[in-house]
Amino acid sequence: MTAKRIDGKAFAATVRGQVAEHVARLKAERDLVPGLAVVLVGEDPASEVYVRNKGKQTLEVGMNSYEHKLPADTAEADLLALIARLNADPAVHGILVQLPLPGHLNSDLVINAIDPAKDVDGFHISNVGLLGTGQKSMVPCTPLGCLMMLRDHLGSLSGKNAVVVGRSNIVGKPMAQLLLNDSCTVTIAHSRTADLPAVCRGADILIAAVGRPEMIPGDWVKPGATVIDVGINRVERDGKMRLVGDVDFASASAVAGAITPVPGGVGPMTIACLLANTLTACCRANG
Ligand code: GUN
Repeated sequence: MTAKRIDGKAFAATVRGQVAEHVARLKAERDLVPGLAVVLVGEDPASEVYVRNKGKQTLEVGMNSYEHKLPADTAEADLLALIARLNADPAVHGILVQLPLPGHLNSDLVINAIDPAKDVDGFHISNVGLLGTGQKSMVPCTPLGCLMMLRDHLGSLSGKNAVVVGRSNIVGKPMAQLLLNDSCTVTIAHSRTADLPAVCRGADILIAAVGRPEMIPGDWVKPGATVIDVGINRVERDGKMRLVGDVDFASASAVAGAITPVPGGVGPMTIACLLANTLTACCRANG
């Protein structure tokens, strides 16, 4: 069997098009322009690339983009003061603080200082609690993008066995919660899981979010399963730097029913969902 490639790049372009149409209507009918503030502390090169892409795509859908680049040695009080200003600014509907933060800053404290209604990452403890109890919340962008691709490919997810490999707060845990809310039977697997290959082989839906290059081979995949590869790992191959996922694409695509490629799968969907969340936050703030 050769798996269907789930084209996240094309799907993300469709989502961005829908967001852009809605943004244009808001502007024309209500003179309202959604605004996204992105805060980057320090000079991590990968984070700088993400932040640049976010800013570019925010402008492309017609929203306002506000970038705040702070030095790596920024004091926590100064970062909290910036967040307080952004919370109070009516032109800012979404706030994203790029993670990871430098070690001297308390990420939990910083994230929980964001107004939950502007927390377009869905990381604030209030949003985590709302999602965990199935209430209306801001949903973290990467898991939301994965869920959209799964629903698009499978229709109803009800009753499917879903295995999420990875237990991070950014992807693994909220992904499991979303799948549970869609009536999947969910297992969260991680580095201490006993017989991980057997657990993965039980998955109708396999989500790989561990950050280890190509650690999941095809013989861990149930024939016909839907595989979502969240990993974005930079590796050197034949003297060149390449991006690979957490799944060994060549062997897994011979077994799976459908699979997301890296690059061009989950990655583009994450930013598209960030824009969708910013639009949602703007609409909620303005009735
Ligand atoms: N760093 C890596 N992924 C993310 C994300 O989704 N949001 C934020 N704020 N930082 C990240």
